[in-house]
Amino acid sequence: MAAILGFGGYVPERVMSNDDWSRLVDTDDEWITTRTGIKRRRFAADDQATVDLAAEAAEVALVDAGLDPGDIDEIVVATDTPEAYTPDTASFLQHRLGCREVPAYDLGGSGCAGFVQALDVARARMLLEPKRILVVGVELISRLMDWTNRSFCVLFGDAAGAVVLAPEEGKASILDVVAGTDGSQTDILTLKTGGTRHPFNAESLASGAYHHLDMDGRRVFREAVHRMTTAVVDTLARSGKAVADVALVIPHQANKRIIDAVQQKLGVGDDKVYVNVHEYGNTGSATVPFALWEARQHGRISAGDVVVLTAFGAGFHWAAATIQF
Ligand code: ACO
Repeated sequence: MAAILGFGGYVPERVMSNDDWSRLVDTDDEWITTRTGIKRRRFAADDQATVDLAAEAAEVALVDAGLDPGDIDEIVVATDTPEAYTPDTASFLQHRLGCREVPAYDLGGSGCAGFVQALDVARARMLLEPKRILVVGVELISRLMDWTNRSFCVLFGDAAGAVVLAPEEGKASILDVVAGTDGSQTDILTLKTGGTRHPFNAESLASGAYHHLDMDGRRVFREAVHRMTTAVVDTLARSGKAVADVALVIPHQANKRIIDAVQQKLGVGDDKVYVNVHEYGNTGSATVPFALWEARQHGRISAGDVVVLTAFGAGFHWAAATIQF
């Protein structure tokens, strides 16, 4: 059995509204709201970095699980905005939490699908060898993005979410996880500079390429709808469940119109889809675990509920999970 013992979430205090953005770049609340559904997002304080957000969410999850950091046997962090280029954020988190000298590693570069992918890996690792695994999704996108590019900056926010997994009785069971990749579409969402093909150098610094995200918004939109919907159908089938059995779908929150399209394709009502994109924007790998934690906090999940997580991200990756509370 793969159970979730505890859930955690954290967002920084600083709120950035659409009107705040309209004072910095050529945009307005009407454009952002109509195109994305986003009204505001949270940004980390100047003295916060990725591990600070991750630790906040992890500590909430540990308390919810009734565990101490010393009870954790492995740590997985999903992020595209790590504490440092090397070593990984999981190393910083292991030390910050005061965990034992356990395996700790990042899954990076999967964009917003990272947390559900990490859940898949952690679940498999835990079933191979019984252990309690802390899985964190965290992004501090505001620190690394281009604050002058209106096409991207208004879309994102900072957050962290976490779960504690164990092969014992818990608050919920993971029935199934599916994941997939279409590497022929690496071009539709990519930050090229900084890797070996396009190293970080004086030229990329001068041109601003080091924080330029290439995104074909419309192709990403189409792929996101298709892949998130298909992944939900696949994971439900593998779990022996139907869409009608689902109490709540928690999709990645990049854009309200993407969520609406997935909802329409699945044929489920508003009460069965969790939406918080208006409050936090797209928080990358943190989106799904944060929304899962918040949905429980808001009383949207009850004992016995079947909940489906579904996400997409740069790669192009997708992943979905069926969870039984
Ligand atoms: N304010 C005002 N105008 C803007 C802004 C802004 N913030 N940003 C772009 N524009 C302008 C552009 O300059 C362009 O103007 P032009 O037509 O004069 O050239 C126009 O708005 C673009 O309009 P569209 O391309 O029609 O915008 P669209 O309706 O496609 O919405 C969006 C763009 C929101 C990016 C949409 O395509 C989308 O959400 N796609 C998916 C994006 C996504 O999910 N990304 C994932 C992020 S990372 C991740 O999740 C892993």
